[in-house]
Amino acid sequence: MNSPEELRAYLDRPLAIGQKEIQNRMVLAPMAGLGHIAFRQLVTEFGGFGLLFTGMCSAKAVPTENPAVSPVFTWRPEELNHTVCQIFGEDPDSMAAAARRIEAEGFFGVDLNFGCSVAAICKRGCGAALLKSPGLAAEIVSAVRQAVSCPVMVKYRTGWKNDPEFAARMGQAFERAGADALTFHPRVAPDRRSRAPQWDIIGKVKEAVSIPVFGNGNLFLAEDGVKMVEMTGCQGLSVGRMAVARPWMFAQWTRGFEPAPGIYHTTAIRMTELLSLHHEDNLAVKMFKKFAPYFCANFKFSQSILKQLMKADSMDQLRENIDRLLKDPPETLRIPNIHLFI
Ligand SMILES: Cc1cc2nc3c(=O)[nH]c(=O)nc-3n(C[C@H](O)[C@H](O)[C@H](O)COP(=O)(O)O)c2cc1C
Repeated sequence: MNSPEELRAYLDRPLAIGQKEIQNRMVLAPMAGLGHIAFRQLVTEFGGFGLLFTGMCSAKAVPTENPAVSPVFTWRPEELNHTVCQIFGEDPDSMAAAARRIEAEGFFGVDLNFGCSVAAICKRGCGAALLKSPGLAAEIVSAVRQAVSCPVMVKYRTGWKNDPEFAARMGQAFERAGADALTFHPRVAPDRRSRAPQWDIIGKVKEAVSIPVFGNGNLFLAEDGVKMVEMTGCQGLSVGRMAVARPWMFAQWTRGFEPAPGIYHTTAIRMTELLSLHHEDNLAVKMFKKFAPYFCANFKFSQSILKQLMKADSMDQLRENIDRLLKDPPETLRIPNIHLFI
């Protein structure tokens, strides 16, 4: 494979995940604070993805969580059949209980977070901390597997040491415990997102298991997708930050959608409309301000545009700023300003 057209043909095919099937192999990575209901609606309006993911939800909270007030455990009914709910936790019983609720609500499936390296999560023994207790991690997968019949997915990273063999063995352990698919992010835990991911380890994990593997990490341009598939043979691609910068990228990579210059203005305005539809003004402003750095990373003068855009206390002010700054399309960058991809 060596062109975006070939990538499109590769991605635009169904893939079985457990007892279900997705229509194409490019999915949104789970992102707390970014992959919320309004953002998922924005992505849905462009289309072209195989699955969407919620940000991580606390397994302890999920069984009693009220979707009407929760910022994360909330959805539109029409997205359930192609949306996976991600949970974090360290206790097999509570992870299983959360998975039961997720299945009962009608989500496509449940995703277990064994990758988050944020201190607040790892201190509680959750996320990537579970890669220090492989037995417990597998026990969690097994408990969730027994609790639900919908697809069970696991998202994890290389581990705490740069040991590709460990990553491959973990993949096998998850498969044995009943996982239906893996999303693998090839960085060690203390690295966070500062260093380049080691895509070759995705290939090692893919070789070690017989369930589908979604490769994740620094997929920015279609040629990155070509390279990752070529290098690793992974069955699917999971895209995080770049999808926030360009919510139309799924449509671009899998359907040949060509964005017009005005797309930055119309997309930013649409994001404000969708945030206002789902949230009251203060929260909507906060959520837009999380989205803005990734979106402004598209522009040549990204820092200056971001700074001016953020000078707003209400959604109306944000919309005025967007009109003023983006109506005449600013100069864009081929590869976004990575310094804003925090
Ligand atoms: C703001 C932010 C929040 C994230 N939250 C989660 C999360 O809740 N669960 C998870 O598994 N990964 C989370 N991630 C990691 C992403 O899913 C992904 O692995 C990472 O961004 C690398 O992929 P990318 O280079 O395509 O962005 C988060 C990433 C970012 C930037």
